[in-house]
Amino acid sequence: MIDNTSRETIKNSVREAADIVEVIGDYVTLKKAGSRYVGLCPFHGEKTPSFSVNPQRQFFYCFGCGASGDAFSFMMQYHHLSFPEALKSLADKYQIVIPEREMSPQERQQFREREQLYSANEAAADLYAGILAREGGAEEAQTYLRGRGVSAEFIQRYRLGYAPAPEEGGWSFATDRLLKQSLPIQALVRSGLAVEKERGGHYDRFRSRIMFPIYDLTGRVVAFGGRILGEGKPKYMNSPESPIFEKSRLLFGLYQHKEAIRKARTALVVEGNFDLLSLAIHGIDTAVAPLGTSLTRHHVHSLRGYCQEVVLLFDADAAGLEAAMRSVPFFLAEQLDCRVALLPQGHDPDSLVRSEGAGAIRERVAAAQPLAEFVFTTLVERHGLTLGGKNKIIGELKPLIEEASDGGQRSLMLAHFSEQLGVAPAQFAVPSQLRQQPLAAAPVGSLERLPRQERQLVEFLILYPEHLEELRAAGMEEVLQEPAALRMVHLLLELNARGEQGPEQIMEVLPDQAERHYVARLLALQGSEGLADEGALAEGQRRELLLWLERASIQQQSLRLQEEIEEAGRQGDTARLMELLQQKMIAGKKRTGC
Ligand code: UTP
Ligand code: MN
Repeated sequence: MIDNTSRETIKNSVREAADIVEVIGDYVTLKKAGSRYVGLCPFHGEKTPSFSVNPQRQFFYCFGCGASGDAFSFMMQYHHLSFPEALKSLADKYQIVIPEREMSPQERQQFREREQLYSANEAAADLYAGILAREGGAEEAQTYLRGRGVSAEFIQRYRLGYAPAPEEGGWSFATDRLLKQSLPIQALVRSGLAVEKERGGHYDRFRSRIMFPIYDLTGRVVAFGGRILGEGKPKYMNSPESPIFEKSRLLFGLYQHKEAIRKARTALVVEGNFDLLSLAIHGIDTAVAPLGTSLTRHHVHSLRGYCQEVVLLFDADAAGLEAAMRSVPFFLAEQLDCRVALLPQGHDPDSLVRSEGAGAIRERVAAAQPLAEFVFTTLVERHGLTLGGKNKIIGELKPLIEEASDGGQRSLMLAHFSEQLGVAPAQFAVPSQLRQQPLAAAPVGSLERLPRQERQLVEFLILYPEHLEELRAAGMEEVLQEPAALRMVHLLLELNARGEQGPEQIMEVLPDQAERHYVARLLALQGSEGLADEGALAEGQRRELLLWLERASIQQQSLRLQEEIEEAGRQGDTARLMELLQQKMIAGKKRTGC
């Protein structure tokens, strides 16, 4: 079992070290707005930022979809991690060591496996790079790279390597070397570096190839792409998927280029590793390349964290056009702008930039056509504008329109395409049940509907739990009428008694999703008014609440008195009646202050 105390200790040291703006900033471009940061929500597609990060509270909240939490929950939601994995990943980022004994046997096994995969890939990257760099060795590989215009500087920058040919090192060169470094064979097989032979024994997956290490967004090598030296099949080979490598989620170059992409606000998508490399050599370092697959929604999603626009650089062949078509729904759903730059016949970005320079690429990018327009013109070229052609075009566009994630986008597309085709939008007849509903606005909890003063008190105490006892002494438990308010106040008192007052703790104990949203938004919003003196504001609120509690207590008391007086009257208990009336008089004086 996990020792909860030490888990807490580690969690706390990670929490102290990690800054939520920095953590989220690795994946989402954040802008300062007052005392908060805002950006495009990574959890739903949007064009105007409704994602807010509060550095004081170390909290994020999205006003669009209601996603919320701290740095840990961000990592969990963004990377689909379990809590221990999120903890580990943040601990790694901030160089905090988690002793293995803190984990459950299952967690330990998972961690070990992943760690071994990372180590295997890291060691392999070193090994391949070492071989390429070695004087006298790997001459053929060096000549090949020189021939493609790749200098030592870029070999180093992208950590290129060489996996020797069987004639040079045998069939299990890398496997043997890595085994000697005490890496377990299972890790080598699982990461795809070694392949199991049917009759036992192992051989290297990558032989006679220029090796491109592929990094995940945290900068760890998770896979390789290998290009055969000279002719041979297959030309490109990638590591197989593993617990640390999912092809459909990762883009080659995104880790190395993310800051340049951020600055340029545009990412270029190319097809091949050498395209990316050549562009970088010519000063265009904003390219990424999918790993032998077409662009997925995950790819588009991760790009959205860094840029406002993507330009697809396609060879002028049919495959590019099909790929562009397929990616339309992803860009619509993620609300990311996309344009398509076509390259001259017979060129890919690598060959074009090498023969005509960076200017030629920049021109093509500048002249790129918006994706929807590009798809449309292509379809017109393909089917023509006869009645039959139009029908075919409508047939091909329909599914794209149906996938648009929100009504606004859909009507825009409908208007655009129907006008272009000269047909009525109804021709597209998108069945309404197929339309994806826009993401619901954040659910509103019962706290939202509290009477104004009760709500103010609850909100004040969530933000400033240090005043709990004071307000309790002033009678808040008697004054509060609404069960939702009382429940929240009792939760806060309970936490306070346990010495846990942070916003994370409140979130953890709130069982109700709507309440969590409510609290998260409150925490995220705090400070957004841009008031310089938050302390003075809080003090003002405190005084107002105390005053209200005092008045309300008195009022309640007099109501109670009134009831008792009536009761005594009904029972004819004169002595009791006299006593109560006297009490009422005193209370009345107190209330009017004389
Ligand atoms: P190309 O054959 O156009 O390769 O395939 P390329 O990028 O121009 O390669 P170089 O310039 O000759 O080195 C385009 C892309 O298709 C994928 C690769 O991602 C490649 O970059 N591909 C191609 C494979 O995955 N496997 C292959 O065997 C060939
Ligand atoms: Mn090429």
